[in-house]
Amino acid sequence: MPYDQSFTIEENTKVNAKYYRLTFRAAHLSEAVEPGQFLTLQINPSLDPFWRRPFSYYRIQKDRIQILYEVLGRGTAMLSRKKKGDTVQVMGPLGRPFSPKVKNKKRVLVAGGVGVPPLIFLAEKYAADYLLIGTKSSAEVLPKKELAKIKAEILYSTNDGSYGSKGFVTKLLEQVIKKELPENIFIQTCGPNIMMEAVMKMALQWGIEGELSVDKPMACGVGACLGCMVKTSDGWKASCVEGPVFNFKDIDLATTLS
Ligand SMILES: Cc1cc2nc3c(=O)[nH]c(=O)nc-3n(C[C@H](O)[C@H](O)[C@H](O)COP(=O)(O)OP(=O)(O)OC[C@H]3O[C@@H](n4cnc5c(N)ncnc54)[C@H](O)[C@@H]3O)c2cc1C
Ligand code: FES
Repeated sequence: MPYDQSFTIEENTKVNAKYYRLTFRAAHLSEAVEPGQFLTLQINPSLDPFWRRPFSYYRIQKDRIQILYEVLGRGTAMLSRKKKGDTVQVMGPLGRPFSPKVKNKKRVLVAGGVGVPPLIFLAEKYAADYLLIGTKSSAEVLPKKELAKIKAEILYSTNDGSYGSKGFVTKLLEQVIKKELPENIFIQTCGPNIMMEAVMKMALQWGIEGELSVDKPMACGVGACLGCMVKTSDGWKASCVEGPVFNFKDIDLATTLS
């Protein structure tokens, strides 16, 4: 059962043009959390906005939890204005995580946008061979200290070529596939649906196994509202409970990511 607790914000800092990092202490919410799991956050006690917002666990040190978030709309804009000492209500841990083991294959992580935090957590906790990060420009690239503990080869792509390779992150993935050979690779991906769709199409084309974390709007986070349904090979599933992480082969690509 997930815990539902109020916590006091220790830090809510802008780390670059794209992300804020929020830190709080909550003993139960940090117990046995795995990369890919998420929490839901009630941004204001006044219930405005009404629905909680889902965020991936980014980093855990003992009872200290961090999330890394992007300001996209009203809720995250309100969250970015929270100060040290303010309180927020949080439920977690929720959902199914990424597989910790990848059976003698090279772990290739493909991240973009709001999908970067859980894959950094995964690379820190279980190690990875490659972490491929796609952003629009250099302004969105995380400061090096946020990635300092990662042993993987980290490759960047930017749409405008201002940092790393110019183009989409799938260009980097293609390079890695050609270097390592498809049969030796296991992909784990999280990011904008359009990016994950391209990654999954490449994986299908090359016969590569992998997992994705689907990005569906989530209102309740506990399987009650049916707002986050995805079509799988085993019928419709609530991605907040049966996911958000699914195996490529279990997901109906056209229905889920459209
Ligand atoms: C399992 C899961 C884990 C997530 N982890 C993170 C994380 O670690 N960091 C982070 O920054 N965000 C994460 N998100 C996305 C985050 O929940 C949304 O960005 C947030 O709910 C937007 O709230 P808002 O009130 O600011 O925006 P809204 O007013 O709800 O929407 C504003 C804009 O954001 C878009 N939007 C709404 N929900 C999402 C969504 N789920 N994904 C992408 N765009 C959305 C809308 O289409 C709209 O354009 C995660 C989402 C899921 C489902
Ligand atoms: S968010 Fe309500 S069922 Fe998944």
